[in-house]
Amino acid sequence: MKIKNFLTEKFATAMVELGIPADCPPSIALSSRPEFGDYQVNGAMKAAKKIDSKPRDLAALIIEKVELSEAVDKLEIAGPGFINIFLSAKFLAEEISKPLVSKLPKKSIKNIVIDHSSPNLAKEMHVGHLRSTIIGDCLARVFEKLGHKVIRQNHMGDWGTQFGMLIAELEQQIEEGNEAEFALNDLEHFYQKAKKHFDEDENFANTAREYVVKLQSGDPYCKSLWEKFINISISHNQNIYEKLNVGLKTEHIKPESSYNDKLAPLVADLMQRNIALDSDGAKVIFLPELADKNGKPSPMIIEKSGGGYLYSTTDLAAVNYRSENLKADRILYLIDARQSLHMKQVFITARKAGLVANGVSLEHHAFGMMMDESGRPFKTRTGGTVKLNDLLNEATDRARVVVTEKNKELSEDEIRSISTKVGIGAIKYADLSITRTHDYVFNWKTMLSFDGNTAPYLQYAYTRIQSIFRKSDIELEQNVPILLEEKSERSLALQVIQFEETINQVALDCYPHILCSYLYALASQFMHFYETCPILKKNIDVNVQASRLRLCQVTSETLKCGLNLLGIEVMEKM
Ligand code: ARG
Repeated sequence: MKIKNFLTEKFATAMVELGIPADCPPSIALSSRPEFGDYQVNGAMKAAKKIDSKPRDLAALIIEKVELSEAVDKLEIAGPGFINIFLSAKFLAEEISKPLVSKLPKKSIKNIVIDHSSPNLAKEMHVGHLRSTIIGDCLARVFEKLGHKVIRQNHMGDWGTQFGMLIAELEQQIEEGNEAEFALNDLEHFYQKAKKHFDEDENFANTAREYVVKLQSGDPYCKSLWEKFINISISHNQNIYEKLNVGLKTEHIKPESSYNDKLAPLVADLMQRNIALDSDGAKVIFLPELADKNGKPSPMIIEKSGGGYLYSTTDLAAVNYRSENLKADRILYLIDARQSLHMKQVFITARKAGLVANGVSLEHHAFGMMMDESGRPFKTRTGGTVKLNDLLNEATDRARVVVTEKNKELSEDEIRSISTKVGIGAIKYADLSITRTHDYVFNWKTMLSFDGNTAPYLQYAYTRIQSIFRKSDIELEQNVPILLEEKSERSLALQVIQFEETINQVALDCYPHILCSYLYALASQFMHFYETCPILKKNIDVNVQASRLRLCQVTSETLKCGLNLLGIEVMEKM
C-alpha cells in the first residue's frame, strides 16, 4: 500500500510526456479537507512557470494525459492550479486487501546503525536514559519492518576516571566481607558511598587514581574488580530493557572500553596527518567550521596533556568501526540535544579524516528533556534523579488503579498483565507522541487517560474490535469484497491505506510522533465508523456485515502493527 508513490509515478509519467522537466515533480500530498478530494497534486504551478504556460491550462492537460483508469472517480482543477484527486471506492477496497507493508527490493536494503540508550554504567539508569532508549527502539522496529538491516549499538559508558573510584570502593567492601552482588544491590547508593570516600579520604582517592591508570593499562586485578562491577550494572540495565519491552540485548552492547586499543593509533594517525595539533601538551582538533562569532575555531580535545583519552576520542573510533566493520549506510545517534556540539565535532572530523566511507549518512537525532508540570527538569520530591526502575514500577501500579476501575470483571492474572502493558505503554506513548525535539511535560494523569491521544485510548480501541469478533462468532473470510458506501467506511479505509507511507515518513526523518498521530487518527476514525455503521445488529445484509467485519479486521491489524512499532503491546480485553 503505497498510494502516494503510485500517484506520484502516474502523474510524473504524464508530466514528462507533456515535456515538463523531471526536476518539477508532481508533489502529491494528502488533501487538507474532504471537499478537496483524498490527495492533491501541488506541482503543476511550479511546472507551468518552468515551461511558461498557464497553471490551470497545464493542470487540464495533465488531467487529460494521466492514466489512472479506475483508480479515481474524478480529478478536479482547484484554485490557481491544484489538481484534486478523488480515489474510487474500488481502488480503496483493492488497496486495503494488500499487505500492510510491501516487500523492499533487495537493492534498497540499507545497513542502519542505531546508537541508542548508551547509559553510563557507573550509576543506575535514570529518567534521563528513557528517551534515547525508547525513541531508538521505535526507530529500530520501523526500519526492520520496512525490511532494512538494523544494527543496534548500545555504546555504554564503562570506561573513564570514575571507575577507579568505583573499583576501589568495591575492593574495600569485599575486604569488609560483603559479596559483590550485595554491595552493588543499590548502585546509586554504592556510587554515593564511593564518592564520599573519594572526597573525604586522601588515601582512598590516591588508590582510586592509581586504579584508573592500572585498569586502562590492563592490570588483571583491577580488571577483575571492574568486570564484577560492569556485569552487575549490565544485568541491572537488561532488566530495565525487558520491563520496558525494548529490543536491546547483551549482544548489542559495544561499550566504550571495547575501543580502548584503537585510541592510541587513532590519535597518532590524526597527529601525523596534522588533523590534530599539539596544544599545551594536549592533542586537539581545531574546527574552523564551528568557529565562534570571533572566528575562533572550536576545539575538540582527543588526548589530555599528560595522557588519557576522552569521550570524543572513543566516538571517533566508534564511528570508524561502524562505517568500516559494520558497513553502515546510515548511522543514527539518539542523544539529547545538549550533546549537539559534540556530535557536530565528531561528524566533521570523521569526514575530514576519512574515518567514514563517502556515502555514509551521519545523523544526530536530538531530543529535548523530560520536565515536570511546573516546567522544571523531572526530579524526585527531594530533588534527586528519578531511577528508571522506580518510574516503571510506579507506572504499573498507577495503571492497575485505572484498569481495575474500568473493568471489574478481570481476574488477578489479567489485571497484572494488563496493568503492565498499559503502564509501560502509557509512559512510552507520552514520550513518542511529542515532537522529539521538544521538551516534554511528564504527567501521569494525562498519559493514563482513556481519552485523547494516549496509549490506553489506542489499546482500548483495539480491545473494542476484539470484542466485536468475540460477539460475532462469524467465520471471517479473507476475500470478502469490501463495500465502502458509507462516508465513515470510506474515511476509515482511506486512513488504513496510509499506514505504509506513514512509516516511510518516520524512517526518513526519524520522528515517531508521526506514527502516533496516524494511529490516533485511525482509532478515532474507527470509533466514528463503529458509531455510524452497525455491524452486529439484526437484519444487516450479510455482505455488508462481512465487509464491515473485514474493515474491523484490517483496522485492528494496523493498530496492532503500529503499536508494536512503538514498542507497545495490545491485549484482547481490558
Ligand atoms: N554515555 C553517554 C551519556 O550518558 C551517551 C552516549 C551516546 N552515544 C555516543 N556514541 N556518544 O551521555
